[in-house]
Amino acid sequence: MHTKVAVIGGAGSVGASIAYALVLQQVHAEILIVDVAEKQAEGQALDLCDAAYLSISRCRKASFKEAGQADVIIITAGAKQRPGEKRSELIDRNYNIIKSIMDSIQPISPMSKILIISNPVDVLTYIAQKVSGHPKHLVIGSGTFLDSGRLRNYLGRIVSISPSSIHAYSLGEHGDSQFVAWSSASVAGMPLLSHPKMKGQDLEAIKRNVAKLAYDIIEAKGSTYYGVAAHVAFLAKALLQNTDQVFPVSHYSEKFGCYFSWPAVIGANGVQQSVDLSLNDDEREHLHKAIDSITSLTNRY
Ligand code: LAC
Repeated sequence: MHTKVAVIGGAGSVGASIAYALVLQQVHAEILIVDVAEKQAEGQALDLCDAAYLSISRCRKASFKEAGQADVIIITAGAKQRPGEKRSELIDRNYNIIKSIMDSIQPISPMSKILIISNPVDVLTYIAQKVSGHPKHLVIGSGTFLDSGRLRNYLGRIVSISPSSIHAYSLGEHGDSQFVAWSSASVAGMPLLSHPKMKGQDLEAIKRNVAKLAYDIIEAKGSTYYGVAAHVAFLAKALLQNTDQVFPVSHYSEKFGCYFSWPAVIGANGVQQSVDLSLNDDEREHLHKAIDSITSLTNRY
């Protein structure tokens, strides 16, 4: 099969869930399960094969070297948040892991799209691009795509409308400094905040509850994987099928000289265009706080 998607960290719950989501979403590709935990990687690949034959995907264990030649390289390897732990506290452990992965997949095929999932994702995406020298538009972090999904889910329950008809973004950092771009949020073609059921809602509380969902899930079951896996599979499909869909992902900003989560058009050429979304003064202030939070870590490397 010509098209290849490598999942580095594929032995783990997030990586294996991403591979499974790709299979269920009928992604026409060979899914390479790559991990230092070779035996678990083999086991995940064999188990996934029992699902893949019902789909048009294929799965097998592969090496880091092979991963560098894949069309889409998804990196989930790294330490996970412990209950109550911030994503930013993972940086020292995961910096070394990302750096060694980027070295071990060299040479990277010039058109490979690299998707970073490991946390803190905005910082690690910057680092992956910096240490590999891969073109910036081809190195993308899952960013606040998952947070925006959680936000739309939450809002859908308030206004009793499917999240698929709600356009609202959590932006900035996939972390505690994320903010909601309320001024551009819409539902069924009208401004979200003018919906009758949004009257009197505590917007700060909504933002806080969405941002703390990961902590709640980790507290209850130890880690998150299904939500992020479904979103990453969506992103991988957009890259492979050149869909030109808009997702709030972590990508490089020429203006600010760093990676943060912002709406971008995603297609075969990675980040094809960053969306010129307008913010009000309050949102702009939140964006600068998020950028400060990210660059306070990236400036260390
Ligand atoms: C979460 C992890 C992916 O937010 O950071 O569930």
